Amino acid sequence: MADLQSLANVVGPENLTVDDDVRHEFGRDWTRYMQPAPLAVTFPRSTEHVRGIVRWARNEKVGIVPSGGRSGLSGGAMAIKGELVVSFSKMNKILELSRGDAMVRCEAGVITENLQKFALDHGFYYPVDFAARGSSAIGGNIATNAGGIKVLRYGLTRDWVAGLTVVTGTGEVLELGKGLIKNATGYDLRHLFIGSEGTLGLVTHATMRLTRPPLPQRVLFMAVNDTESIMKIFDAFRSSVAISAFETLNEDAMQGVSAKGLKRPLETVSRWYVLVEHDTADNDRALEVFQTVMNEGLALDGVVSESSAQAAALWRLREDITEALAHHTPYKNDVSVMVSRVPSFLADADAVLKREYPTYTIVWFGHIGDGNLHISILKPKELPMEQFYKACQKVDTMLFEVVQKHGGSISAEHGVGLTKKPFLSYTRSPEEIATMRALKQVFDPDGIMNPGKMFDP
Ligand code: LAC
Ligand code: ZN
Repeated sequence: MADLQSLANVVGPENLTVDDDVRHEFGRDWTRYMQPAPLAVTFPRSTEHVRGIVRWARNEKVGIVPSGGRSGLSGGAMAIKGELVVSFSKMNKILELSRGDAMVRCEAGVITENLQKFALDHGFYYPVDFAARGSSAIGGNIATNAGGIKVLRYGLTRDWVAGLTVVTGTGEVLELGKGLIKNATGYDLRHLFIGSEGTLGLVTHATMRLTRPPLPQRVLFMAVNDTESIMKIFDAFRSSVAISAFETLNEDAMQGVSAKGLKRPLETVSRWYVLVEHDTADNDRALEVFQTVMNEGLALDGVVSESSAQAAALWRLREDITEALAHHTPYKNDVSVMVSRVPSFLADADAVLKREYPTYTIVWFGHIGDGNLHISILKPKELPMEQFYKACQKVDTMLFEVVQKHGGSISAEHGVGLTKKPFLSYTRSPEEIATMRALKQVFDPDGIMNPGKMFDP
């Protein structure tokens, strides 16, 4: 039995609990296929605490599962085997804005939306954005290299991390990047920790870059028949309008959000819908492109937002999909291919899914402008979860063969975690996985950092 008393001495008894409700809440993310079963939950207040926790875990041979906003969808923050959950919810302070550097240093538990608001309040903008902005934490965004809806214009979390304080699996504290823009002094270890899903160490502080706020944005929402047309519409907008997002959803997704009370914006019912966001400064050109794609029959119908409230309402049709479908406990996939391969990939993948799931609802949505599509298979009510999960994992092997054939990734932005671990080899070569294992050995020789996630030892 692990010596929790000595851990309480490290973090203070008020920052450690074995309470059942807290363990249940903090021991899981949004993944709903397995049950949380952590040993305990600890709430460090400082990097020193985290270092003490890691050293304790090393001594006691207890696994550590980092916990941010727990909005992950691949089980990366599930504690299912008696691990110690390290929650960053009490390390949620924005520490320092450096105007001259356009950078902000914050603790790992800062909620994404709070960083976004802080930046705006100070005349800056933090551009990484996605539906879980109100619950996800910066540390988790870094651990999964979060992408989201503005990747087209602003890139991924990786592009905004200027510095990190991390505690490795050996209990060393490393200062990585140090906020420097230029630093040509060897391996940039910062990037190893971005997207590492807590398997190498724990991020305690991050220095994030900021940019200037965008011009006001406008949203166009269109009904479209097929994915070739979607990509032609994308080409038409991208080549003449400053777009910041290009998203899609299929009719089944539309039905999901409609069932939850969102109003359909168009009378036309079609197989697909697209949402384009662009600078209002480009309104005239955007309307011209809209006219053209309507005339050419690429778009069947469309609506243009006339106010920020209307733009927000259109965005909800896309952003609320995950929440609207949650009661179906969907089986989720999050794949990507190069943008040019999207239509051929989609045709092949859709054929496989339709063949394998002749009676299930297949919801497609996502960030089609950067090649990232989410697939949610809705669980029929009467089917037991375990049976559904197993059946879907079997179909994954067929879906991922298609992903592999098109040179894509089995996880675009949600991470590998537990749910995609069996399929890592569809995207990463044996040599790459061996190198990743070797790196893990350097930073986490005892295998205590988020054990069982991403790959097995
Ligand atoms: C989204 C999440 C599921 O795009 O990634 O809504
Ligand atoms: Zn997404």
